[in-house]
Amino acid sequence: MTLEEKKQFLHKKHEEAELAGGSQRIAQQHERGKMTARERIQFLLDEGTFVELDKFVSHRCTDFGMEEKKYLGDGVVTGYGTISGRHVYVYGQDFTVFGGSLSATQSLKICKLLDLATKNGKPVVGLNDSGGARIQEGVESLAGYGEIFWRNTMASGVVPQISAIMGPCAGGAVYSPAITDFIFMVKKTSYMFVTGPDVIKTVTHEDVTMEELGGAASHSSRSGVCHFASDDEKSCLLLIRELLSYLPSNNLDDPPFVPTSDPVSRKDPKLLTLIPDNSKLAYDMSELIQAVVDDSYFFEVQQDYAQNIIIGFARLGGRSVGIVANQPKVLAGCLDINASVKGARFVRFCDAFNIPIITFVDVPGFLPGTEQEYGGIIKHGAKLLFAYSEATVPKITVITRKAYGGAYDVMASKHLRADMNYAFPTSEIAVMGPEGAVAIVFRNELQRAANLEEEKRRLVQMYTETFATPYKAAERGFIDEVILPDETRLRLVQALEMLKGKRDHLPPKKHGNIPL
Ligand code: HXC
Repeated sequence: MTLEEKKQFLHKKHEEAELAGGSQRIAQQHERGKMTARERIQFLLDEGTFVELDKFVSHRCTDFGMEEKKYLGDGVVTGYGTISGRHVYVYGQDFTVFGGSLSATQSLKICKLLDLATKNGKPVVGLNDSGGARIQEGVESLAGYGEIFWRNTMASGVVPQISAIMGPCAGGAVYSPAITDFIFMVKKTSYMFVTGPDVIKTVTHEDVTMEELGGAASHSSRSGVCHFASDDEKSCLLLIRELLSYLPSNNLDDPPFVPTSDPVSRKDPKLLTLIPDNSKLAYDMSELIQAVVDDSYFFEVQQDYAQNIIIGFARLGGRSVGIVANQPKVLAGCLDINASVKGARFVRFCDAFNIPIITFVDVPGFLPGTEQEYGGIIKHGAKLLFAYSEATVPKITVITRKAYGGAYDVMASKHLRADMNYAFPTSEIAVMGPEGAVAIVFRNELQRAANLEEEKRRLVQMYTETFATPYKAAERGFIDEVILPDETRLRLVQALEMLKGKRDHLPPKKHGNIPL
């Protein structure tokens, strides 16, 4: 071959790889409102930065006549590029080749990428669109999944791992995304389940559609498996870019600093009236968060799941922070099983990646009921306690109103080693609410009272004035400062600055035993 012919040969191979499963299958993909793997990657990354690896890899299967059906790349596009100028590794399963199913060689490609990302300390984004294990390859494919799961686990807490589900993701294949830090889904075109509707019908006689069972709506609101549900693929990919802007590239880096023109001393007068005088009335904690953070912009995570707790990212004075907040508007802000697990996982993510945690507290306690007790609120609530206790990143807490009972301790109290604990004058820090406390402590007095209602009112008022305030806690140093609500932004930025060099360590151990 002449040099020119060799160049032509290489060019043809590139063309063949890029055509993947062929123009007809690409057209089918488009008809379903889905992009191809390469189109997704191009859209996700900064323009012109994608460098593809292993483009000519093909499978080695010889059963079922597979040696006659080879496609360069073997159903997954892998490589690296940049997002807002920072490197990421990315893979996209290509549904046009054997339905994106996972072969041994596809697994090798993904594993190579995970190894590179872990060694080089860069995030990994996986764009999943696959019929699962490549049926023709049997146990080789299962082994391939196992290798990916193991690497996902090793990379956990070392580099951020993000999974987007952009088509089917069924059977054991769901477990790679499940190990990663964040799962994105696209409404109507993606689904995840361990066993599909047909198997469910056979085993339990339940009728359920693919969408009801494993669509983005179900997983973002009912199971909590999905962190972000988007209307279409492009908005999903843009959200991934945005999420990465809050994260460091690895556990040894700090998150990017984004200078802001929002004055640190900005006081939002709305904060002075947001919390109602009557502590039984609800208010929207997201309004408080927005009033405090840079440019009033809050990037909420899992916004449709366990809405009694709010989690997400924001910036304060240009620094990335993770926010955890009780939401008095939903279940009065009580902690239940789902809220505890949602909060705990987020706290651990922030801690793993050097993102300070800001906690806004308005919690009347744990949600009572047999459903919660039988569901294991004891062990699930303990997860949040454990996660906060273990976290060594700067932890700053603001009690806005109620901080009752065990939930006071759980929500990043001083006793779990929060660095700065603030309270608004409206705070009520006590073992329980006034009515409940009076009913127990003054049971005998109430039984003897000539005018029960009047006596109850008097005792509740006395209890409220004495105990349902921030001052008992402030006297003991459990609260560092009682602040006015419109000072919150300034105090938080000052505290973050003060805690910039925080160093804290856990006792040497193999690992703790978080109550799973
Ligand atoms: C090999 C597969 C495949 C698979 C799809 N294809 N899934 N090839 N192994 N797992 C091929 C099809 O033969 C077809 O090839 C092409 O991909 C597109 O598939 P269609 O069925 O035409 O597409 P669609 O109608 O959209 O249906 C998509 C689908 C369906 C719902 C994913 O293909 C399907 O049910 N596939 C099997 C899913 C499955 O049971 N996988 C194993 C799960 S268990 P042609 O040549 O016609 O284009 C598992 C275990 C993992 O994954 C364990 C990890 C520990």
